[in-house]
Amino acid sequence: MKTPNMLEAKKRNQKEIEYINYNNDLGKFGNGRKFYVRTYGCQMNEHDSEKIRGMLLSAGFIPTEDITDADIIILNTCAIRENAHDKVFGYLGVLKHMKKGKKDLLVGICGCMAQEEVVINEILNKYKQVDFVCGTHNLDNLLSIIKEKIDTKKRQIEVLSYEGDIVENIPVLRESKYSAWVDIIYGCDKFCTYCIVPYTRGTQRSRRHEDIIKEVEDLVKNGYKEVTLLGQNVNAYGKDLYKDYTLANLLEDTAKTGIERVRFVTSHPWDFTDEMVDIIAKYDNIMPYIHLPLQSGSNKILKLMNRRYTSEEYLKLYKQIRFKVKDSSITTDIIVGFPGETEEDFLETLKIVNECKFDGAFTFAFSPRENTPAALMKDVVLEEVKMDRLHRLNEIVNKYSNEANHKMMGKIVKCLVTDISEKDENKVCGYTENMKLVNIVGPKSLIGNIVNVKITDTKSFSLDGEYVEEN
Ligand code: 5AD
Ligand code: SF4
Repeated sequence: MKTPNMLEAKKRNQKEIEYINYNNDLGKFGNGRKFYVRTYGCQMNEHDSEKIRGMLLSAGFIPTEDITDADIIILNTCAIRENAHDKVFGYLGVLKHMKKGKKDLLVGICGCMAQEEVVINEILNKYKQVDFVCGTHNLDNLLSIIKEKIDTKKRQIEVLSYEGDIVENIPVLRESKYSAWVDIIYGCDKFCTYCIVPYTRGTQRSRRHEDIIKEVEDLVKNGYKEVTLLGQNVNAYGKDLYKDYTLANLLEDTAKTGIERVRFVTSHPWDFTDEMVDIIAKYDNIMPYIHLPLQSGSNKILKLMNRRYTSEEYLKLYKQIRFKVKDSSITTDIIVGFPGETEEDFLETLKIVNECKFDGAFTFAFSPRENTPAALMKDVVLEEVKMDRLHRLNEIVNKYSNEANHKMMGKIVKCLVTDISEKDENKVCGYTENMKLVNIVGPKSLIGNIVNVKITDTKSFSLDGEYVEEN
């Protein structure tokens, strides 16, 4: 049994990162058992789940969409806020019940919660229904952990507090045939004081650019139209590995593979260079959509958050992107109720939101995370004050996303059609270049193609449109 230690997890540069090839061939011990993976949290987790599915498939397990039919259920968890925790612990209650009727059912936990000492202690003491836990740094070892559980019938907990090697070529079972996630950098060294990610995901480690470009080239060969380059802070790409190869170079090399659409998330304003903005503006196949977390508009709070920029610097970058990248859309993340946030500080946030008029914003009430500096800060904001600020902020945020969407009215835009619409099974849906979801009147045969769509109506969180045939 290997359990996590948050103090160890805080340390940096404990060992030189090695690049190795996935090699965990244990035969087809899955024997046709069915698996179900449930994902919580961010895009990084979505992609990790694709790896979990890929590894399980390679060992002879079979995917099922019906959880009640599964022989093995894996929860790929998120630790970013307390409510993410609550959801997982709540679901473990459901699974406990399910196990009563199905003695051989295996339940496993992966992802960020697995890296938390408090969670593992709780699982060890209270959640006997969990058969195995695999941390984020040794995900490539998942099959060995499951096999050990099956062979020995003993509970397996294997979580490392330091980074493993960068493992290339882990099998992936991708969810989409048209749009693919591609990891470019793991971990984060920014240590924003509220954030648990630097502890659960470890040191910033970049993949080699040759490996990334090879993956994108293979995706192009396999008919993929879009890649999204992934990392907790993609703008730090390369800093740990190269003297003079940055995200700007990587974006350019990715664009040159000829893939039709390149996206990237998540950006940190501090690492965003002029060169990156220029490259995004230069290439038609780098999409004009940037997620640029602001977190707060108050310089006092930004400092307490250790964000390394002022609201003036954020605004300067924001305006530069808007000016240089044609028809861009910019979304953001904002936290309200950080310790010490006064009404005046909150009004500073509203002021910058009113100035930026974001296309959209993910807004959160501050949630103290175990072992992070902010969890120990004084001047805690009352829950009802947090909720009041959240509501006031959301009203303004929604007004601007409505306005931004409304500007698209009547335009003919390119959409990558990805699916049947969730709203109406007679429609299809897809995303514009600037990342707006459109429900489209058009045939199902459009799925997988980039087509022209005329926008016929706009709402807060989506657009309506109709397919325009090319002449
Ligand atoms: N409390 C509230 N929101 C948080 N985020 C990260 N940590 C916390 C926390 N402790 C938000 C940030 C980040 C997004 C992914 O989640 O806004 O950008
Ligand atoms: Fe967390 Fe800050 Fe790193 Fe983002 S940049 S993952 S908010 S520590």
